[in-house]
Amino acid sequence: MSYKIDLSGLQAGSRQTTQQLVRRFVEAIEAGEFAPGERLPTTRELARDAEVNPVTAARVYRRLAELGYVTATVGRGTFVRSLPPFASDELDDEWQSIALPGLRFPARERVVQEALRLSLSRDVVSLAAAYAASETIPAREIGAAAAAVIAEGPGVLHYTDVEGVPELRDQLGELGRLRGFAAGGDEILVTTGARQGIDLAARAILREGDVVCVESPTFVGILGSLESTGARVIGIPTDEDGLDVEALERALTRYPVKLVALQPACQNPTGRHLSEPRRRRLVELALERSFFVLEDGVYADLVFAGEAPQALRHEAPAHFLYVGSFAKVLGGGLRVGWIAARGPVFNRLVALKTQTDLNTSPFDQRVIARYLESGSYPALLERVAPLLSRRAASLAEALERHLPGETDALEPLGGHNIWTTFRRRVNEQALYAEAIRRGVSVMPGGSMLAEPSTRTCLRLTFSLCSEEQLDEGIKRLAAAFNAVLREERYAATGPLA
Ligand SMILES: Cc1ncc(COP(=O)(O)O)c(C=O)c1O
Repeated sequence: MSYKIDLSGLQAGSRQTTQQLVRRFVEAIEAGEFAPGERLPTTRELARDAEVNPVTAARVYRRLAELGYVTATVGRGTFVRSLPPFASDELDDEWQSIALPGLRFPARERVVQEALRLSLSRDVVSLAAAYAASETIPAREIGAAAAAVIAEGPGVLHYTDVEGVPELRDQLGELGRLRGFAAGGDEILVTTGARQGIDLAARAILREGDVVCVESPTFVGILGSLESTGARVIGIPTDEDGLDVEALERALTRYPVKLVALQPACQNPTGRHLSEPRRRRLVELALERSFFVLEDGVYADLVFAGEAPQALRHEAPAHFLYVGSFAKVLGGGLRVGWIAARGPVFNRLVALKTQTDLNTSPFDQRVIARYLESGSYPALLERVAPLLSRRAASLAEALERHLPGETDALEPLGGHNIWTTFRRRVNEQALYAEAIRRGVSVMPGGSMLAEPSTRTCLRLTFSLCSEEQLDEGIKRLAAAFNAVLREERYAATGPLA
């Protein structure tokens, strides 16, 4: 490997060497000597060529990742990031990376942070941030509910029960009876977004070395929470009928699985539902083999046509935990979600919630309770679904228009996303970086898989963009795809090809 950084004259002592190597990489990346998306040498190569030990080489890359210069993907390597780092001039806090314990898989979190950050940029079409459609967020009604709540006096600004504000729990209990996710308000713990519900469930059930199965692909946040417990996360394939329950059954014979996490309706990222025979079999398996199931219903209400499938939890309420949220309809900024469970696991969830943040903003909970009381939520859902369905169709058409014959996109039955696989393989990290450079942000498929894959996949979100923006976004994505293909061909064959 011909090095783009100078490896000569390194000082002895692992701390000094680490610092020097980090500085040299930072300078080279900032000078543009490494292109966005470019792969760095492996830690083994770096250790050999810089004559440092492998731990030092690994520490250099970890530090570069912490500073925001590179992204590491397990099984694929370390890549130069496309965006300016978060803290480029803070190289004097190196001691922290020695003092801090290693963070598992920070690459997933980076992708999420970038998606959120880029959603605010005027120059970037965001096909990465799965937000509620702005046009249907009932801001005026939420505002009226907030005004009515605050008019009740200072009491509404007090802390509340850890489980949640009673009136919201009651309303969620009622919704739960209708949709099948809870038998009543006493099974509900209000959480700071469904994201916290997932995290509490992972911490309540899993310990280091336990085995958990997830859909592959799945929501990046599920992977993050499961992995952070130190559990072994096994990806089970999905197809247009949802999780492959036969493949799950094979995994169950091989491993002592403690938890299965899935989204049976409008799955993120595929937008598909679990088929009826697979639903039945999954419930039988949970009952027969006594494992927990984390049912994520965050998108379940957003079906494009017909009735939303019933939650599975009512079939086996002691085995299933259910997480839900208002984020995808009322807006993610309210951060109000819930988890439904019963028995000892519910008590553990409440204990963990007490340790974590005590309460999800009681004020926000009361605002949502007030809004739900108005009775307009079901009608809102009916307005949201056709808008999302139109946007999904526009995005699929734009893919056909700008990338004809290049992608296989699953047709979503609901939700905010389309999962698409490229027929030709290109470097996914390079495509991700090039897309951002050309003004469109997407979610790289690798961030949603428990295990590395050789295929090039993207999650494309249609909820936030107008039809024109979707077209423009895909046009930019096509330009990025062609640029990466050209570059890869050039790298393989040289300038004469
Ligand atoms: C499948 C899934 N579950 C949970 C969440 C987290 O939802 P919340 O914003 O309520 O934390 C998301 C958010 O994107 C999601 O896609």
